[in-house]
Amino acid sequence: MRGRRPRPAPVSPRTTLALKVARKTAEAENIQSFELVDPAGKALPPFAAGSHLDVHVPGGKIRQYSLCNPPGERHRYLIAVMRAEPTRGGSRAMHEQVKEGDLIEVSAPKNHFPLVESAKHSLLIAGGIGITPILCMAEHLAGLGADFEMHYFARSPARAAFVERIKRSTFADHAFFHFTEEEKQQRLDLAVLLQTHDAGMHLYVCGGEAFMNAVIDTALQKGWRKDRVHREYFSVEKRESDSNVEFDVTIASTGRTIRIPADKTVLTALADYGIHITASCEQGVCGTCVTRVLEGEPQHRDVFLSDDEKNRNDRFTPCCSRANSRTLVLDL
Ligand code: FES
Repeated sequence: MRGRRPRPAPVSPRTTLALKVARKTAEAENIQSFELVDPAGKALPPFAAGSHLDVHVPGGKIRQYSLCNPPGERHRYLIAVMRAEPTRGGSRAMHEQVKEGDLIEVSAPKNHFPLVESAKHSLLIAGGIGITPILCMAEHLAGLGADFEMHYFARSPARAAFVERIKRSTFADHAFFHFTEEEKQQRLDLAVLLQTHDAGMHLYVCGGEAFMNAVIDTALQKGWRKDRVHREYFSVEKRESDSNVEFDVTIASTGRTIRIPADKTVLTALADYGIHITASCEQGVCGTCVTRVLEGEPQHRDVFLSDDEKNRNDRFTPCCSRANSRTLVLDL
Protein backbone atom coordinates (compact mmCIF):
# COMPACT_ATOMS: atom_id res chain seq x y z
CA MET A 1 0.00 0.00 0.00
CA ARG A 2 1.28 3.42 -0.90
CA GLY A 3 1.74 5.77 2.07
CA ARG A 4 0.73 9.41 2.00
CA ARG A 5 3.48 11.87 1.48
CA PRO A 6 4.12 13.47 4.91
CA ARG A 7 3.09 17.11 5.03
CA PRO A 8 5.71 19.59 6.22
CA ALA A 9 5.06 20.58 9.84
CA PRO A 10 3.31 23.97 10.03
CA VAL A 11 5.65 26.80 10.93
CA SER A 12 4.59 29.59 13.22
CA PRO A 13 4.69 32.99 11.52
CA ARG A 14 6.53 34.15 14.66
CA THR A 15 9.43 31.83 13.86
CA THR A 16 12.63 33.69 13.09
CA LEU A 17 15.20 32.16 10.78
CA ALA A 18 18.86 33.16 10.45
CA LEU A 19 19.63 32.68 6.75
CA LYS A 20 22.76 33.13 4.71
CA VAL A 21 22.87 35.49 1.76
CA ALA A 22 24.05 33.01 -0.88
CA ARG A 23 23.85 35.45 -3.79
CA LYS A 24 23.24 39.15 -4.29
CA THR A 25 22.45 40.15 -7.87
CA ALA A 26 21.78 43.46 -9.61
CA GLU A 27 18.50 42.76 -11.39
CA ALA A 28 17.76 46.23 -12.78
CA GLU A 29 18.49 49.88 -12.13
CA ASN A 30 18.14 50.26 -8.33
CA ILE A 31 16.90 46.69 -7.84
CA GLN A 32 18.98 43.94 -6.20
CA SER A 33 17.90 40.41 -5.48
CA PHE A 34 19.02 38.37 -2.48
CA GLU A 35 19.05 34.59 -2.49
CA LEU A 36 18.72 33.32 1.09
CA VAL A 37 19.54 29.78 2.17
CA ASP A 38 19.80 27.85 5.41
CA PRO A 39 23.48 27.98 6.49
CA ALA A 40 23.44 24.22 7.17
CA GLY A 41 21.66 23.43 3.91
CA LYS A 42 18.38 22.42 5.59
CA ALA A 43 15.05 22.71 3.78
CA LEU A 44 13.27 26.00 4.44
CA PRO A 45 9.64 26.30 5.58
CA PRO A 46 7.32 26.05 2.57
CA PHE A 47 5.54 29.07 1.16
CA ALA A 48 2.60 29.80 -1.09
CA ALA A 49 2.48 32.27 -3.97
CA GLY A 50 1.98 35.83 -2.70
CA SER A 51 3.98 35.28 0.52
CA HIS A 52 6.49 37.68 1.98
CA LEU A 53 9.21 37.65 4.63
CA ASP A 54 9.70 40.18 7.40
CA VAL A 55 13.38 40.95 6.98
CA HIS A 56 15.43 42.41 9.85
CA VAL A 57 17.62 44.84 7.95
CA PRO A 58 20.84 46.29 9.35
CA GLY A 59 20.09 49.11 11.77
CA GLY A 60 17.19 47.35 13.47
CA LYS A 61 14.40 48.06 10.99
CA ILE A 62 12.01 45.39 9.76
CA ARG A 63 10.84 45.46 6.15
CA GLN A 64 8.52 43.22 4.15
CA TYR A 65 9.81 41.72 0.92
CA SER A 66 7.81 39.33 -1.24
CA LEU A 67 9.19 35.99 -2.28
CA CYS A 68 9.78 35.80 -6.01
CA ASN A 69 11.13 32.31 -6.59
CA PRO A 70 8.78 29.50 -7.63
CA PRO A 71 6.71 28.33 -4.63
CA GLY A 72 7.62 24.73 -4.06
CA GLU A 73 11.32 25.49 -3.86
CA ARG A 74 12.54 24.57 -0.38
CA HIS A 75 16.27 25.15 -0.80
CA ARG A 76 16.13 28.96 -1.05
CA TYR A 77 14.09 32.13 -0.71
CA LEU A 78 14.53 34.83 -3.32
CA ILE A 79 13.60 38.44 -2.57
CA ALA A 80 14.22 41.60 -4.55
CA VAL A 81 14.66 45.06 -3.07
CA MET A 82 14.24 48.34 -4.87
CA ARG A 83 16.25 51.17 -3.43
CA ALA A 84 13.54 53.66 -2.52
CA GLU A 85 14.00 57.39 -3.10
CA PRO A 86 13.51 59.01 -0.68
CA THR A 87 14.40 56.04 1.49
CA ARG A 88 13.42 55.47 5.11
CA GLY A 89 16.64 53.49 5.45
CA GLY A 90 15.58 49.87 4.94
CA SER A 91 16.25 49.53 1.23
CA ARG A 92 19.47 51.53 1.44
CA ALA A 93 20.76 49.26 4.20
CA MET A 94 19.90 46.18 2.13
CA HIS A 95 21.68 47.59 -0.92
CA GLU A 96 24.74 49.02 0.80
CA GLN A 97 25.37 46.88 3.85
CA VAL A 98 24.16 43.35 3.18
CA LYS A 99 26.79 41.22 1.44
CA GLU A 100 27.04 37.68 0.14
CA GLY A 101 27.92 35.37 3.04
CA ASP A 102 26.18 37.54 5.65
CA LEU A 103 23.59 36.05 7.98
CA ILE A 104 20.28 37.86 8.00
CA GLU A 105 17.23 37.31 10.21
CA VAL A 106 13.87 36.79 8.55
CA SER A 107 10.45 35.61 9.65
CA ALA A 108 8.89 32.44 8.34
CA PRO A 109 6.87 33.22 5.18
CA LYS A 110 3.57 35.05 5.73
CA ASN A 111 0.83 35.43 3.18
CA HIS A 112 -1.60 38.37 3.02
CA PHE A 113 -2.00 38.04 -0.74
CA PRO A 114 -3.16 34.49 -1.47
CA LEU A 115 -4.29 33.21 -4.87
CA VAL A 116 -7.79 31.90 -5.49
CA GLU A 117 -6.73 28.78 -7.33
CA SER A 118 -10.27 27.94 -8.46
CA ALA A 119 -10.49 31.13 -10.59
CA LYS A 120 -11.47 30.57 -14.22
CA HIS A 121 -8.91 33.17 -15.26
CA SER A 122 -6.41 35.22 -13.23
CA LEU A 123 -5.24 38.63 -14.35
CA LEU A 124 -1.93 39.53 -12.71
CA ILE A 125 -0.79 43.16 -12.83
CA ALA A 126 2.53 44.40 -11.47
CA GLY A 127 3.88 47.92 -11.22
CA GLY A 128 7.66 48.23 -10.83
CA ILE A 129 9.02 46.22 -7.92
CA GLY A 130 5.47 44.88 -7.41
CA ILE A 131 6.56 42.21 -9.90
CA THR A 132 7.94 40.09 -7.04
CA PRO A 133 4.75 38.45 -5.67
CA ILE A 134 3.13 38.61 -9.11
CA LEU A 135 6.00 36.64 -10.65
CA CYS A 136 5.69 34.03 -7.91
CA MET A 137 1.97 33.77 -8.68
CA ALA A 138 2.66 33.41 -12.39
CA GLU A 139 5.14 30.60 -11.72
CA HIS A 140 2.58 28.81 -9.55
CA LEU A 141 -0.33 29.23 -11.98
CA ALA A 142 1.87 28.07 -14.87
CA GLY A 143 2.77 24.98 -12.83
CA LEU A 144 -0.93 24.26 -12.28
CA GLY A 145 -1.69 24.71 -15.97
CA ALA A 146 -4.17 27.46 -14.97
CA ASP A 147 -5.49 30.12 -17.30
CA PHE A 148 -3.85 33.50 -16.58
CA GLU A 149 -2.05 36.45 -18.02
CA MET A 150 0.51 38.75 -16.48
CA HIS A 151 1.05 42.44 -17.22
CA TYR A 152 4.17 44.16 -16.02
CA PHE A 153 4.27 47.98 -16.00
CA ALA A 154 7.63 49.67 -15.58
CA ARG A 155 9.12 52.94 -16.69
CA SER A 156 11.68 51.32 -18.96
CA PRO A 157 13.36 47.94 -19.54
CA ALA A 158 16.35 49.17 -17.52
CA ARG A 159 14.09 49.63 -14.50
CA ALA A 160 12.31 46.28 -14.84
CA ALA A 161 13.62 43.27 -12.91
CA PHE A 162 13.48 39.67 -14.13
CA VAL A 163 12.71 40.55 -17.76
CA GLU A 164 14.94 37.79 -19.16
CA ARG A 165 13.60 35.25 -16.67
CA ILE A 166 10.05 36.06 -17.76
CA LYS A 167 10.95 35.96 -21.46
CA ARG A 168 12.51 32.51 -21.01
CA SER A 169 9.67 31.17 -18.83
CA THR A 170 7.02 28.65 -19.81
CA PHE A 171 4.44 31.43 -19.56
CA ALA A 172 6.29 33.92 -21.77
CA ASP A 173 3.48 33.92 -24.31
CA HIS A 174 1.00 35.29 -21.78
CA ALA A 175 3.32 37.78 -20.09
CA PHE A 176 3.09 41.34 -21.40
CA PHE A 177 5.39 44.29 -20.75
CA HIS A 178 4.25 47.92 -20.67
CA PHE A 179 7.23 50.26 -20.65
CA THR A 180 6.16 53.84 -20.43
CA GLU A 181 6.94 57.04 -18.57
CA GLU A 182 3.62 58.42 -19.70
CA GLU A 183 0.92 58.21 -17.07
CA LYS A 184 -1.73 58.83 -19.73
CA GLN A 185 -0.56 55.84 -21.69
CA GLN A 186 -0.62 53.72 -18.55
CA ARG A 187 -4.22 54.71 -17.83
CA LEU A 188 -5.19 53.93 -21.40
CA ASP A 189 -3.62 50.47 -21.18
CA LEU A 190 -5.34 49.79 -17.88
CA ALA A 191 -8.75 50.81 -19.21
CA VAL A 192 -8.39 48.42 -22.14
CA LEU A 193 -6.99 45.65 -19.98
CA LEU A 194 -9.75 45.79 -17.39
CA GLN A 195 -12.63 46.33 -19.81
CA THR A 196 -13.60 42.69 -20.28
CA HIS A 197 -14.27 40.51 -17.27
CA ASP A 198 -16.73 38.02 -15.87
CA ALA A 199 -17.63 36.40 -12.56
CA GLY A 200 -14.92 33.75 -12.86
CA MET A 201 -12.04 36.18 -13.16
CA HIS A 202 -9.82 37.41 -10.35
CA LEU A 203 -7.49 40.39 -10.51
CA TYR A 204 -4.24 40.67 -8.53
CA VAL A 205 -2.30 43.90 -8.36
CA CYS A 206 0.90 44.90 -6.61
CA GLY A 207 3.04 48.03 -6.80
CA GLY A 208 3.35 51.53 -5.40
CA GLU A 209 0.32 53.36 -4.04
CA ALA A 210 -0.41 55.58 -7.06
CA PHE A 211 -0.16 52.66 -9.48
CA MET A 212 -2.33 50.45 -7.27
CA ASN A 213 -4.97 53.13 -6.91
CA ALA A 214 -5.03 53.63 -10.69
CA VAL A 215 -5.57 49.90 -11.28
CA ILE A 216 -8.14 49.44 -8.52
CA ASP A 217 -10.09 52.59 -9.45
CA THR A 218 -10.16 51.58 -13.11
CA ALA A 219 -11.26 48.04 -12.26
CA LEU A 220 -14.10 49.28 -10.05
CA GLN A 221 -15.18 51.78 -12.74
CA LYS A 222 -15.27 48.91 -15.23
CA GLY A 223 -17.55 46.95 -12.90
CA TRP A 224 -15.16 44.50 -11.28
CA ARG A 225 -16.53 43.26 -7.95
CA LYS A 226 -14.37 44.25 -4.98
CA ASP A 227 -14.06 40.67 -3.76
CA ARG A 228 -12.40 39.72 -7.03
CA VAL A 229 -9.80 42.46 -6.78
CA HIS A 230 -6.82 41.41 -4.64
CA ARG A 231 -4.06 43.80 -3.77
CA GLU A 232 -0.79 44.11 -1.94
CA TYR A 233 0.75 47.51 -1.44
CA PHE A 234 4.50 47.82 -1.41
CA SER A 235 4.65 51.33 -0.13
CA VAL A 236 2.43 54.32 0.36
CA GLU A 237 3.13 57.93 -0.40
CA LYS A 238 4.01 60.05 2.58
CA ARG A 239 0.97 61.99 3.68
CA GLU A 240 1.05 65.63 4.72
CA SER A 241 0.54 65.92 8.46
CA ASP A 242 -0.40 69.61 8.47
CA SER A 243 -4.08 68.81 8.96
CA ASN A 244 -3.50 66.37 11.83
CA VAL A 245 -5.24 67.20 15.08
CA GLU A 246 -4.42 65.92 18.55
CA PHE A 247 -6.63 63.40 20.29
CA ASP A 248 -6.55 61.09 23.31
CA VAL A 249 -5.92 57.36 23.59
CA THR A 250 -7.09 55.49 26.67
CA ILE A 251 -5.42 52.20 27.56
CA ALA A 252 -8.28 49.87 28.54
CA SER A 253 -6.26 47.68 30.94
CA THR A 254 -5.04 50.57 33.09
CA GLY A 255 -7.47 53.40 32.35
CA ARG A 256 -4.53 55.68 31.59
CA THR A 257 -5.18 58.38 28.99
CA ILE A 258 -2.40 59.71 26.78
CA ARG A 259 -2.57 62.74 24.51
CA ILE A 260 -1.48 62.05 20.90
CA PRO A 261 0.04 65.25 19.50
CA ALA A 262 -0.58 66.27 15.90
CA ASP A 263 3.02 65.58 14.93
CA LYS A 264 3.31 62.07 16.40
CA THR A 265 1.79 58.73 15.54
CA VAL A 266 -0.08 56.73 18.17
CA LEU A 267 2.77 54.23 18.00
CA THR A 268 5.48 56.74 18.86
CA ALA A 269 3.40 58.70 21.37
CA LEU A 270 2.57 55.54 23.34
CA ALA A 271 6.20 54.38 23.14
CA ASP A 272 7.21 57.63 24.87
CA TYR A 273 5.20 56.37 27.84
CA GLY A 274 6.71 52.87 27.75
CA ILE A 275 3.76 51.30 25.92
CA HIS A 276 5.24 49.40 22.99
CA ILE A 277 3.14 47.97 20.18
CA THR A 278 4.92 45.58 17.82
CA ALA A 279 5.31 47.27 14.45
CA SER A 280 7.16 46.68 11.25
CA CYS A 281 6.54 48.79 8.13
CA GLU A 282 5.28 51.83 10.10
CA GLN A 283 3.33 53.02 7.08
CA GLY A 284 0.08 51.07 7.18
CA VAL A 285 1.09 48.36 4.75
CA CYS A 286 1.91 45.19 6.69
CA GLY A 287 -0.71 44.90 9.44
CA THR A 288 1.80 44.01 12.18
CA CYS A 289 0.61 46.78 14.51
CA VAL A 290 -3.17 46.21 14.13
CA THR A 291 -4.79 46.92 17.50
CA ARG A 292 -8.37 46.42 18.72
CA VAL A 293 -10.44 49.56 19.27
CA LEU A 294 -13.03 49.25 22.03
CA GLU A 295 -14.52 52.75 21.83
CA GLY A 296 -14.24 55.74 19.52
CA GLU A 297 -13.93 56.09 15.76
CA PRO A 298 -10.54 55.61 14.10
CA GLN A 299 -9.51 57.65 11.08
CA HIS A 300 -8.07 54.86 8.96
CA ARG A 301 -5.01 55.82 6.96
CA ASP A 302 -3.60 52.39 6.21
CA VAL A 303 -3.86 50.26 3.10
CA PHE A 304 -3.81 46.99 5.02
CA LEU A 305 -7.39 46.69 6.31
CA SER A 306 -10.13 46.10 3.74
CA ASP A 307 -12.95 48.62 3.36
CA ASP A 308 -15.29 46.29 5.27
CA GLU A 309 -12.79 45.96 8.09
CA LYS A 310 -12.36 49.73 8.22
CA ASN A 311 -16.11 50.27 8.33
CA ARG A 312 -16.36 48.03 11.41
CA ASN A 313 -14.08 50.47 13.25
CA ASP A 314 -13.06 47.80 15.74
CA ARG A 315 -9.38 47.65 14.70
CA PHE A 316 -6.88 50.18 13.46
CA THR A 317 -3.20 50.63 12.66
CA PRO A 318 -1.55 52.88 15.27
CA CYS A 319 1.55 53.33 13.10
CA CYS A 320 -0.30 55.72 10.79
CA SER A 321 -4.04 55.93 11.53
CA ARG A 322 -5.52 58.58 13.78
CA ALA A 323 -8.97 59.33 15.24
CA ASN A 324 -12.17 61.04 14.14
CA SER A 325 -13.46 61.00 17.71
CA ARG A 326 -11.94 62.90 20.60
CA THR A 327 -10.79 59.66 22.24
CA LEU A 328 -9.98 56.10 21.23
CA VAL A 329 -10.07 53.35 23.83
CA LEU A 330 -7.60 50.66 22.84
CA ASP A 331 -7.54 47.02 23.96
CA LEU A 332 -4.05 47.26 25.43
FE1 FES B 1 2.86 47.88 9.34
FE2 FES B 1 1.52 49.34 11.17
S1 FES B 1 3.50 48.53 11.30
S2 FES B 1 0.76 48.48 9.34
